[in-house]
Amino acid sequence: EKGHYRHFMEKEIFEGPRAIMDTLEGRIAPGHGRVMLSELTRLGPSPPEIVFVACGTSYHASLLGRQLIESLSDIPVRVEIASEFRYRPLRIRKGAWVVGVTQSGETADTLGALDHARREGYLTLAVTNVPGSSITREAEATLLTRAGPEIGVASTKAFVAQMTAVWLLALHLARRTGLREEEGSRRSLELLLRAPARLEGFLGAIDLAAIDRLAEKVASSRFVIFIGRGLDYPLAIEGALKLKEITYRPADGYPGGELKHGPIALIEPGVLVVAPLVDLDLAAKEWSNIREVEARGGTVVTIASPESSPVAPSYPLPPTDGWEGMFFATAVLQLLSYRTAVLMGNDVDQPRNLAKSVTVE
Ligand code: M6R
Repeated sequence: EKGHYRHFMEKEIFEGPRAIMDTLEGRIAPGHGRVMLSELTRLGPSPPEIVFVACGTSYHASLLGRQLIESLSDIPVRVEIASEFRYRPLRIRKGAWVVGVTQSGETADTLGALDHARREGYLTLAVTNVPGSSITREAEATLLTRAGPEIGVASTKAFVAQMTAVWLLALHLARRTGLREEEGSRRSLELLLRAPARLEGFLGAIDLAAIDRLAEKVASSRFVIFIGRGLDYPLAIEGALKLKEITYRPADGYPGGELKHGPIALIEPGVLVVAPLVDLDLAAKEWSNIREVEARGGTVVTIASPESSPVAPSYPLPPTDGWEGMFFATAVLQLLSYRTAVLMGNDVDQPRNLAKSVTVE
């Protein structure tokens, strides 16, 4: 039930902290400060390569997974759209893990991609939110995200749980491959452990009036471009997807560095650019992209912590020194889409033309 919330989507956004907490539960060895994913034992030692296959929001979580795994280990990671991957010859390393990420566990293309890999003799792992779903029967091993049932068609808390799962996977693989930066990994685990409480605090103090002011800008823009670099790139394209799904506004997401290779031609008054800035290593580069947009008359909405923002951002995030900022920015982007859709009077939980799980090709 929705409780005091107006829509399931809203309720599920506020369930993000619990989704992180439940996904962490029992997966960190007590006292050792180590991630233990016993679910992966049957896959054997860490692989020479990982290939994520997924659709939609799950694809975006996979892109984050690539970034996190490649930062903490030497394992090369690829991310593939399941519907494309399943019809291509497999040119991946022997012993690679093919990881299907899917909230529902029933997405036809993701199931097809995993089946394709399994037939060719690759080890398969399912990362899914639904115990007993089809993908758990298809894959060799399953890592459950524990967001609980998600009713809103637009994925919110399940995405948060997927981010948590790929972060855990990165820490698990870091331990098993020998750390390039052991210290970085320990710090990363500390941040992950405190993420539920920090996200809870952040959501508890969310400034909905400020989000509504930004939602009005979105609603009155002809086109919305989301940009981001590094960690912010998957967040940006996820922000664009969410906006399209429930507000039907024309929107797209690009890596910030790609703007000048084409999309910048779209910038003019009436076009809005939304930029999450949580990747501390690349924030300065993203700011230069933002300046390029402003110089051409575009309006920019920035979502940033003090560390990544030389000027006051449109929506401020709490201070951070690591990856946890992605949870804060995601909450703001989800709420921004949600409040824009409400403002427009749309059916938020049942957007037109969409199904919660896509069981046909
Ligand atoms: O159940 P899955 O994670 O496999 O679903 C994949 C996509 O269909 C899904 O993420 C879709 O893009 C959502 N509606 C996004 O909000």
